[in-house]
Amino acid sequence: MSLLKILEYPHPRLRIKAVPVAAVNDTIRQLVDDLFETMYAAPGIGLAATQVDVHQRLLVLDVSDDQNESMCFINPEIIARDGAEITEEGCLSVPGVYEGIERAQHIRVRALGRDGNSFEMDAEGLLAVCIQHEIDHLDGKLFVDYLSELKRQRLKKKIVKAQKQTSVTA
Ligand code: NI
Repeated sequence: MSLLKILEYPHPRLRIKAVPVAAVNDTIRQLVDDLFETMYAAPGIGLAATQVDVHQRLLVLDVSDDQNESMCFINPEIIARDGAEITEEGCLSVPGVYEGIERAQHIRVRALGRDGNSFEMDAEGLLAVCIQHEIDHLDGKLFVDYLSELKRQRLKKKIVKAQKQTSVTA
């Protein structure tokens, strides 16, 4: 297993739309394992392949308190959604930023598991938020895209400035 480098906003490769995984083979399973290791080390509750510069449709997450309920979604699709709820979100690709974002409250998702078998599940609460957030990554979308233009520009300036300072002092 290995830790992968997480791309940070406003990196242009975070905007690439991922393509479906053609076959769940050993290469994909290795990537799934590396995503889990990278996510737990960060630490975070979700990570999409896009964030480690791999543009295939797969994501991992674990929203449990004890971080012992790993879940993997390959070629995920939201097939039903209802309700709306605002939750404070953060993102490993946008460090230090937390904003309230409105998303569907309940979703039904279809995906392939690490074993390549198709499954469907209903999700609500933090799990539903996290699945929607990670699928957005696969579509090249970030949670800050939901903010007003003015707010996003301010955040971007702050983040780019912080990144420059980091590189000067590193
Ligand atoms: Ni994220």
